[in-house]
Amino acid sequence: MERKAFIKTCGMACLSGAVLTALMEGCTSSKQVNGTISDSDMVVPVSAFQNGKDGHKKYVVVSNDKMKYPICVYRFSDTEYSALLMRCTHQGAELQVFGDRLECPAHGSEFTSKGIVQNGPADTNLRTFPVAIQNNQLYISLK
Ligand code: FES
Repeated sequence: MERKAFIKTCGMACLSGAVLTALMEGCTSSKQVNGTISDSDMVVPVSAFQNGKDGHKKYVVVSNDKMKYPICVYRFSDTEYSALLMRCTHQGAELQVFGDRLECPAHGSEFTSKGIVQNGPADTNLRTFPVAIQNNQLYISLK
């Protein structure tokens, strides 16, 4: 390959990588939410699930400095949510969200959006928390 063609190819590859990284960061950051802790509840505004004018995000990942693991909250409807501790039940690694499922980067366990084990080595479902809605806030009970 000639020098000029090589430089052009490398430049395009770098540009593509930078654009892709920026797009991916945009996707992930919009699903990260800081929850506030009130008594024994983690509180998240329902508006955290808004996506555009009329759309909704399928899930948000809620964090708080006092929590060792984040909580993944899936939205199924205006009134139905599931809140899952993102701690693998195998050996405690933090899970990653991939659409409708959570995966463990340590040994590959998989869980559904309701916290049910789909693939081992984990053999226990995820810890779930009751969710209540009041005044446009989600109250995730940490008791
Ligand atoms: S810690 Fe998650 S599969 Fe082992």
